[in-house]
Amino acid sequence: MFSPSDLDIPIVAAPMAGGASTPNLVVAVNEAGGLGFLAAGYKTPQALAEQIVEVRERTERAFGVNLFIPQAPLTDRAAVELYRSVLALEYPAADFGAIADTDPDWFDEKVAVVIEHHVPVVSFTFGLPPVDVVERMHAAGSFLIATVTSVSEARQAQGLGVDALCVQGPEAGGHRATFATREEPGTLALGELLIAIRAVVTLPLIAAGGIHSGGQIASLLAAGAAAVQLGTGFLRTDESGATRAHQNALVDPSFTETVVTRVFSGRPARGLLNDFIVAHDAKAPPEYPQVHHLTKVIRADAARRNDADGLALWAGTGFRDARTGPAAAVLGALWNDTQFAVVA
Ligand SMILES: Cc1cc2nc3c(=O)[nH]c(=O)nc-3n(C[C@H](O)[C@H](O)[C@H](O)COP(=O)(O)O)c2cc1C
Repeated sequence: MFSPSDLDIPIVAAPMAGGASTPNLVVAVNEAGGLGFLAAGYKTPQALAEQIVEVRERTERAFGVNLFIPQAPLTDRAAVELYRSVLALEYPAADFGAIADTDPDWFDEKVAVVIEHHVPVVSFTFGLPPVDVVERMHAAGSFLIATVTSVSEARQAQGLGVDALCVQGPEAGGHRATFATREEPGTLALGELLIAIRAVVTLPLIAAGGIHSGGQIASLLAAGAAAVQLGTGFLRTDESGATRAHQNALVDPSFTETVVTRVFSGRPARGLLNDFIVAHDAKAPPEYPQVHHLTKVIRADAARRNDADGLALWAGTGFRDARTGPAAAVLGALWNDTQFAVVA
């Protein structure tokens, strides 16, 4: 079975749903000595299976697949309908579709795909899988990682029997991995959160959130992380599938800060502050993935028009340092900087 200590370079390219994580990115990071991740979120089981087969054909090294844990059913339909009517006034041509009570994102089918393909590393976000999934995946030889954002979540994950934790700090780009949609995510900075979790669990820890320099990586490894996980840091690489508008926004001087917002999906997520967030932040109810599906047509339209102000520009606090070039070179440069960093 995989172990983080097998990695030549203890850097993980984060799973990034929505298009950024491509098989090309996974293969490039793997072949350079790190760990690449496919993002199963929002994908059909068939599309996931095709990507797994492609990655397997192109690298012999261990790779990961990340799964979204299904969320509790819709609790406040009226609030989502109200948000839909607000958006409908602004986007009269948009077809928002029906509001579903539940959307498990084909979780069971994707679990079956992952087991069938004996995926070496599987991580989970937005909660914990049922114990039978843990057992079946372990029987298939997978190394399991639960993403956690607090000491309490870390304890629960260790109790379930996973093999490692991805500790996600508040600096992270994209969705916070909190186990419950309505919960407000913690604000303890990654370095402190890592130390707090290290004190109560014995599992290997992978630190994630706002990491953009060798100095940070060296400090987190010195504080007990077995590896670090970067998402935003790979968004501008040659192999990234992020839209051009998203990549350009990371270095566009008109985008100056990131904020945590529920505006696009109903779940707290960190992205560049843009016009859509300014206009709607206070109106979005905490219902995921219903709000995600509601804003999908708006985001798709903005993507067609190359309009960064209508997109979810997920980005961590270190966004300005996201480097361009081949992912292997970005990984190598970060690791080189880590070796030369002086840890206080
Ligand atoms: C565009 C984008 C998409 C993301 N999608 C996922 C995902 O599908 N699953 C997941 O577990 N984390 C996802 N994340 C969060 C990352 O796993 C990780 O926690 C985060 O990128 C770390 O912070 P950083 O972006 O500052 O490096 C995403 C992050 C970004 C930026």
